[in-house]
Order: sequence, then structure tokens, then C-alpha cells
Amino acid sequence: MSTYVSRNPARFDDVVTEVPLATSADVLAACEAAHDAQAAWAAVPAPARGRVIAQVGRLFEANKESLSRLVTREMGKVYAEALGDVQEVIDTCDFFLGEGRRLYGQTIPSEMPDKQLFTFRVPVGTAMIITAGNFPAAVPSWYIVPALVTGNTIVWKPAEQTAAIAHAMAEIFYAGGVPRDVLKVVIADGPATYDGLEAALQKRLVQKIGFTGSTEVGRRLSELAGRHLQSPCLELGGKNPMVVMPDADVDLVVEGALFAGFGTAGQRCTSLGTLWVHRDVYDTVRERYVHAVESAVIGDPFSAVLYGPMIDEKYLLTHEKHLGLIQDHQSVYGSTGVGRITSHNPRAGFVGDPDAGWFAHPTIVDGVRPGDTLYDTETFGPLVTMGVFDTLDEAIELANGHGYGLSSAIYTSDPKSVWRFREGISAGMMSVNNSTSGAEAHLPFGGNGLSGNGSRQSGIWVLDQFTRWQSMNWDYSGKLQKAQMDVAEMPFDPDFRL
Ligand code: UN1
Repeated sequence: MSTYVSRNPARFDDVVTEVPLATSADVLAACEAAHDAQAAWAAVPAPARGRVIAQVGRLFEANKESLSRLVTREMGKVYAEALGDVQEVIDTCDFFLGEGRRLYGQTIPSEMPDKQLFTFRVPVGTAMIITAGNFPAAVPSWYIVPALVTGNTIVWKPAEQTAAIAHAMAEIFYAGGVPRDVLKVVIADGPATYDGLEAALQKRLVQKIGFTGSTEVGRRLSELAGRHLQSPCLELGGKNPMVVMPDADVDLVVEGALFAGFGTAGQRCTSLGTLWVHRDVYDTVRERYVHAVESAVIGDPFSAVLYGPMIDEKYLLTHEKHLGLIQDHQSVYGSTGVGRITSHNPRAGFVGDPDAGWFAHPTIVDGVRPGDTLYDTETFGPLVTMGVFDTLDEAIELANGHGYGLSSAIYTSDPKSVWRFREGISAGMMSVNNSTSGAEAHLPFGGNGLSGNGSRQSGIWVLDQFTRWQSMNWDYSGKLQKAQMDVAEMPFDPDFRL
């Protein structure tokens, strides 16, 4: 049996946990157990399931600091952001604990007397949830919490890089009252997960796939789901544009683009992709932005830094691969070097020992345009591209042209530009004078095109992912009344005129 060693990405000598990697048979067995537990969990009255979510939320609150410390230690995001990651779990529990007392259906009048129509939300069944390492607490909770409250059971496959966080979270769910077979955790690599899931689908043990990760893997899972007549809940990549109009507040732009581009080392699916700036303010914005990025402090994520290490070596290598896509007509700014920060390739003002972790220089690539590989490549690291536009319509075209459509932002003081942008942008989410990242936990979250299949998480909208509508009609007339045929005629005078 192979073992995964999860290390602190800011200090390799710190082994956070060692976990056995599940085989495809283990994944299948977990699906079987969760499937077998589903009927009993669905039979728990929804308000009681909501009560469990309330208890889980309280325990996340009580364990917020210790879990956040583990998030920073295992995944590498700065502690303030780790607290936010865990707070988003608490917010999600706060939102859904009341759903146990709602889960509204409708009563609908029938076209015939002595007959009533109703709708009910019924759980989908068992869900396989596969999540990424960048939001190890918040994003899994967006699936797990609504799935639980609506009566589903879950097999959760977190990123192996955040195995200790996943186990800690599962223990909080169990302590809050979730039965162990209702939420199963498996740590497995991609092929074992895929094979185990495929076998589970063939045996009709899984009715929903939830996946947050790359567009490429999302496509494969979507194909697999499609073969089993399922529509997965997908949250995929982004190349999130930030459009800066000439009437924008430049201080706000610089602050927003610094956080959006380099917070979490650029490893959010909502991270800034390209900063599109109107020609009239281009030089000013670039100069101020470059200065802000050059002076940002990077290093130990427990210190006051903009960002810490990459999640692990794999993410650093991908970032370095993206640096190889920089073309001659583009210019590079942002740091004292590019690629991995080391004692031989230092970053001015670095806090801590760069050789002990997977740290990367922040990089701004200036002069990007359609046709460049970096124009339509999601970079998922500390790399922001910049480009120029002359009109808002052109900016919208540039912002949509790559086919991703997750998050977006416009900076302007003109409401007309805001509304025009809202209509034209293809992204599922847009910010006005705010970062592309940092969505609140009770708004629909999700994207279009290469960013997803239109499914939405969070708030009331995710209920459609974890429940299906069942309609019921009840005829108490004592006779067979045929719909469309035995319907009363309502007389009227078609020739009536004033
Ligand atoms: C993600 O990167 O997958 O909106 C989720 C944000 C966070 C969630 C990001 N609340 O940036």
C-alpha cells in the first residue's frame, strides 16, 4: 500500500501527516457504505438534520483557530486567509442550518376539482465530492453542508496535499452528529479515484459528482457522468479579467489587483488573470501596480506577508512552466527574479528561509494580447498578465474571448459602464470596484464556458444540485378525472368589443 506524505510547503522538514492512499477498490467500498447509509439519513427529519448542521457550525467556530493553523501549516496560505477559509465553513453552516426547517415544496392548484398538486425536494442520493487543495475547508463545505441537510450521503476525496485538514474536518462533522458512513473520506490519487468512481456509477451507488479543480479533469468527469445520465456540479478554472476604466479610483485598483492577483499566491480559482487597463490610465496603473507588487512582503505564512508558499512542488513546477510561455513582445515586472525564490534567486524583503519551502516570485507580464498563449491560459500561480484597451466594448471582448467565465471585475465610477459590463461579460460572477476573488458564501458561485457547466454552489441555488423535484397529484373526487380532457370549459364571448 502506498503512502502519501503531506509536508508543510513552507518548511519541508515538517511532516504534517502520512496517510495510506486508497485504491480504487477502497473508493468503491466507501461508495457502497455511503450508499447503504443514505436511506436512514434521509429518514432523519430535515429539521433534525439542520440541527446537526448547527452543531457542526458551532464546533467549527470553537475550533476555528486550531483548524486555521493547520490550514496554514499544511496548505501554506497566510493565517489571516486561513481564518477566512474556515469562517466560510461557519457561514455555510449558518446559512444551511435553517434549510432543515424550510426545504420548501409548493402546493399548486389543479385544473380539476377535488384534486391537489404538490412538489417535494428529494435527495439525489450519494454524492462523490472531489475538491482541490487551495480552499481546503471552505470549498468542501459548499458541497458537504447542503448535501447533508438535504438528506444525501457523501464520499469526499480531498486533495492529498490537504489530507490532515480533511481528516480534521471530518472529525468535526462526526463530533457534530454526522454518522461516519454518512460522510466518508478517501485520500486517493486521480486514477484510483476515477476507477473507483466509475465502478460505483456502474453499480448505481453514486448519483452526483461534485468537482472543484481544473477544466481538463472537469471535462473527463463530465464525460463519465454523462455516460451515466448525470449532470455533475463543476467548479473549474478561470482567467478572471479585471477591467480598469479611465474614471477608476487608481488606489482602489492597485489594492484590489494586488490581493486578487497575488493573495493565496494566485492559487484561487477566482484569482486575477488579466488586468485590462484603458489606454488613458495604462502607464499610471502599471507603474503603481508594479511598485505595489515589488514592495509586497512574501514569505512565512504565519507572518504578516502578502502570500506564502505554493501548495506543493507540483504547483510551483506548473507556475515555472507558465513562465516559459512569456513572449518577446511582453515585459516582466514585479520582483528581483522569476520562478522559485531561493537564496540564489532571492526576493527583496523575504521573511523566513526560502530554501525550506516552495516559494515563488510574483510576476507581472505586461503587453498580453489575444493570440498569445498567456492570453487564454489559466496560470493558477503568482502571475498576472496586463493588457491595454481603448473602448469598453473592446474590453468586454478581451475579457470574454478566451472562453473562461468564472469571475470578473470592473473598476469605474460610471454606472453606465457597470451595467454595460454586467450585460456583456460572460462570467458567472462580477465585482464592481472590488477584487475578482472573495465571494461571499451565500451568493451563487460558479462559472460558464470553460469554467463550468452552469451549475452553481452556495446559497439557495445549490439546493438544485443536491435535490430533485418530485411532483405529486392527489385526486380525491372518487372518479377518474383525465387531465387536459375532463377540464371545465369557461364560457366567454369572443365577439365582444367596446
Ligand atoms: C476557489 O478558489 O475555488 O471567492 C474558491 C473566493 C473564495 C472562494 C474561492 N471565497 O475567492
